[in-house]
Amino acid sequence: MNPEPVDWRRRYEDRDTPWDLGGPHPELAARLARGGLLPAGSPTRAGQGPRALVPGCGRGHDALALARAGFRVTAVDLVDATGGVLGRELEQLGGELRVEDALRHRGAYDVLFEHTFFCALDPEQRGAWGLLARENLVPGGKLWALVFPVGKPAAEGGPPFATAVEDLARVLPGFSLCVDVPAGARAPKRSWEERWAEFERLS
Ligand SMILES: C[S@@+](CC[C@H](N)C(=O)[O-])C[C@H]1O[C@@H](n2cnc3c(N)ncnc32)[C@H](O)[C@@H]1O
Repeated sequence: MNPEPVDWRRRYEDRDTPWDLGGPHPELAARLARGGLLPAGSPTRAGQGPRALVPGCGRGHDALALARAGFRVTAVDLVDATGGVLGRELEQLGGELRVEDALRHRGAYDVLFEHTFFCALDPEQRGAWGLLARENLVPGGKLWALVFPVGKPAAEGGPPFATAVEDLARVLPGFSLCVDVPAGARAPKRSWEERWAEFERLS
């Protein structure tokens, strides 16, 4: 499958961004509010907590929610969709925005948060996405993923391309799937199922 490459910059310039929820995904927000994501004992002062990578961050709603909850966030996108605003906000919270190809980004993170980045990629790039997770997460690091669009017929193409938790697992050798549940808090106006999955890098 070789879809037309998406001109992401153009999509933001044209404000043609139907994926953008205008805030963090409700399931992420709910889990952060319940305090279930920040490991016990983690410092909650901005920029002091676990290191989190948010690839394909778009306007950065999820990245900001994680940063406000105490994570040290590096958000990455090909496009600076907010004209510098997101970068400044993240810096005030001890994080950063990197405008670059996330698939080539390398660092050492405790958490990787995936939301509509995997399904936006050409399926041929999924191996590179797996490498991104393997080469950025430290052993014991966690991958939290809002998996979408689950159950979309592959013949409909994309983006967003049909995605199942198994598609992530296939490119994550050396990871253990710890949680795989339907998203309890759904994003409004999304037709296909969303699941919350958690993987741990074993070694
Ligand atoms: C469908 S949007 C999702 C944005 C964001 N995660 C959200 O839910 O609002 C996909 C995003 O991935 C970005 N993107 C696509 N390919 C990328 C790449 N190789 N490296 C970094 N960002 C990329 C696009 O610019 C776009 O912001």
